[in-house]
Amino acid sequence: MIKINENFDKLQSSYLFSEIARRVREYQATEPPRRIIRLGIGDVTEPLPPACIAAMHRAVDEMASSATFRGYGPEQGYDFLREAIARHDYQSRGADIAADEIFVSDGAKCDTANIQELFARNIRIAIPDPVYPVYVDTNVMAGRTGAARNGRYGGLVYLAGTARNGFVPAPPKRQVDLVYLCYPNNPTGATATREQLAEWVAYARASKALILFDAAYEAFIRDPALPRSIYEIEGAREVAIEFRSFSKTAGFTGTRCAFTVVPKNCMGYTAAGEPRQLHALWNRRHTTKFNGVAYPVQRAAEAVYSPEGQQQVRALTDFYLGNAAIIRKTMKQLRMPVTGGENSPYIWVRTRDDSWSFFDRLLKEAQVVTTPGAGFGRCGEGYIRISAFNSRENVEEAMARLRELA
Ligand code: MLT
Repeated sequence: MIKINENFDKLQSSYLFSEIARRVREYQATEPPRRIIRLGIGDVTEPLPPACIAAMHRAVDEMASSATFRGYGPEQGYDFLREAIARHDYQSRGADIAADEIFVSDGAKCDTANIQELFARNIRIAIPDPVYPVYVDTNVMAGRTGAARNGRYGGLVYLAGTARNGFVPAPPKRQVDLVYLCYPNNPTGATATREQLAEWVAYARASKALILFDAAYEAFIRDPALPRSIYEIEGAREVAIEFRSFSKTAGFTGTRCAFTVVPKNCMGYTAAGEPRQLHALWNRRHTTKFNGVAYPVQRAAEAVYSPEGQQQVRALTDFYLGNAAIIRKTMKQLRMPVTGGENSPYIWVRTRDDSWSFFDRLLKEAQVVTTPGAGFGRCGEGYIRISAFNSRENVEEAMARLRELA
């Protein structure tokens, strides 16, 4: 008899964005009075930057000739892309990251989900609440959390993100071994200052803990005082792994390209306390389970770092930030408190009803899809997340509908 991994039974309902898609599909089938505008999942709507398209075309042409054709590439990514990333995203900002510490992949979601394979079953994990659900669910599947009671897993340490702490929880008093941080934050859009990240790095160094730092939204940071990478903080190399993505930066949600940085002096420990290079472990996992990102896609990602690519990506992120500003302004007019949307494409809005009721009301009365905050954790109850990823016309129309509803 084939036995299943019963940890799957401990998962709470379905994956958040699948549940939203199901509710929207069901409502769509009732033939709503107006077209539905989607400001729920953070999926980009604008085309790829022209520099990326041109590079991808050239790479496709190379694949058409036996002289330039390429088969399997290096699992960790081609040097041309790893070097461009190291130079532009890290070394130019004073962060000491080498090209061979970068692992190119097909998504930050997959990487943040898969990284937990490197760690023991019995580690203590701290999870911010609200949080991107992938961090929790993948640890549930791996059997690290115990069962859920009243929406929370006994085996996790929850770090409450509330209006009082600006949705940036401080390190806990108790010792944990692994912590997930995401700034600019999904879902709240909050950002962490250099001092706040330095506090986390000091905590991790003091307790030999590891920070998993999800920086998928760093391209939306406009405030020059805010750090864009955890490696801008002294001492972070030894205690942090960073995840980034071209999805939101350059419109690659459908094209798929991301990367994970594992510094060579970042250590994990055996039960006997002996240090092991996490870089070597991730390299072993990556080469065993992954065969690399398509060559034309890596060429397109490389083009992000060309002078024209940089300008185009800036224009793209500016465009979504323009949408975010419209959403923020509308929420303020409606006297609904907001966080985010200034250095982030997400706007976190305090609602008058509970999250799912408000979500349903916006869907059925305004035909606007958002994401209920409760789907990101208990502390998300009473909030919704509005995504700025859509056309200007759709965002303006959605905001006009919300004003009508008020
Ligand atoms: C979101 O809406 O939270 C993101 O699009 C999810 C993701 O990037 O996987």
